[in-house]
Amino acid sequence: MVHQDDTKMMEEIRWLKAEKSVYIIAHYYQNGAIQDVADFVGDSYAMALAAKDSPLDTILVAGVDFMAESAAILCPDKTVLSPELTSTCPMADSIEVSDVERFKQEHPEGLVVSFVNTPAAIKAVSDICVTSSNAARIIEKLPQDVPIFFVPDQNLGCNISARLDRPLECFPSSCPIHAAVTPESILEKKAQYPDAAVLVHPECDPRVVALADYVGSTAGIIDYAVHTERQQLIIGTECGIFHKIKQVSPGKELILADPNLICQDMKKITLEKVLASLQTMETRITVPEDIRVKAAAALEKMIEYSS
Ligand code: 13P
Ligand code: SF4
Repeated sequence: MVHQDDTKMMEEIRWLKAEKSVYIIAHYYQNGAIQDVADFVGDSYAMALAAKDSPLDTILVAGVDFMAESAAILCPDKTVLSPELTSTCPMADSIEVSDVERFKQEHPEGLVVSFVNTPAAIKAVSDICVTSSNAARIIEKLPQDVPIFFVPDQNLGCNISARLDRPLECFPSSCPIHAAVTPESILEKKAQYPDAAVLVHPECDPRVVALADYVGSTAGIIDYAVHTERQQLIIGTECGIFHKIKQVSPGKELILADPNLICQDMKKITLEKVLASLQTMETRITVPEDIRVKAAAALEKMIEYSS
């Protein structure tokens, strides 16, 4: 439900972003009101492309820090703003440059494939970046005879490895939100809603993925949810995704696979903070140029291999 104060703040945000020529890009895990004031809402890959294609020179990213950082890496001539610097991704922050360097020393011929959920410094030492929407397609195009270090999400890595029937060395980290979904909670929901389709994100445990009717990125899940004839959907990803599905396909009954599917970091971004960011034009996200150039190469390669 949208409160009167929220409506007022949303009006102010819409007025200020037009006045100051700011393009707002949001992730599907953001609060519904933030998705509604955004100019573009998408999954991590679409957000990166939207930043590159932004019609305006100032972009405000409503998402966790690596999303704003990716925009800053890809758009050095644009101003990228974050409304909340403490909105971070614990999985992205779990890996160090030394972890990647260790693999490279042991496997000089190997390739490092990093999920976009990584800091700029990790992207800078990676051969290519991927998101959950394009990881399998990209890895399929890489040379067959070289070892691949997939960082930092071992669930995504294991799921791709199974799908492509190709071994991947995975860094032992995962998204605490998606990793909390258990096969038991899916089976319980399936017993409760026997006609429901199960849609999960590939950051979930492979045993959860094995029980799903559809596995894909947030954009993929929304697309499947909208087009399937099934009316009841058990959703195994962050609850913010319900907002878009309800807007596009209001008749569907949405069942959250686990009550803990809420990313508190994503939810740190509020209307108040977006408004304050537009008022002050803070906080600008920048990446040291030597790191930015190398990280941009890995992101640009992702875009090239994605098509
Ligand atoms: P996608 O939107 O790319 O599916 O990513 C999900 C996610 O966990 C972002 O933090
Ligand atoms: Fe990170 Fe998981 Fe939150 Fe996405 S949902 S930002 S991967 S903690």
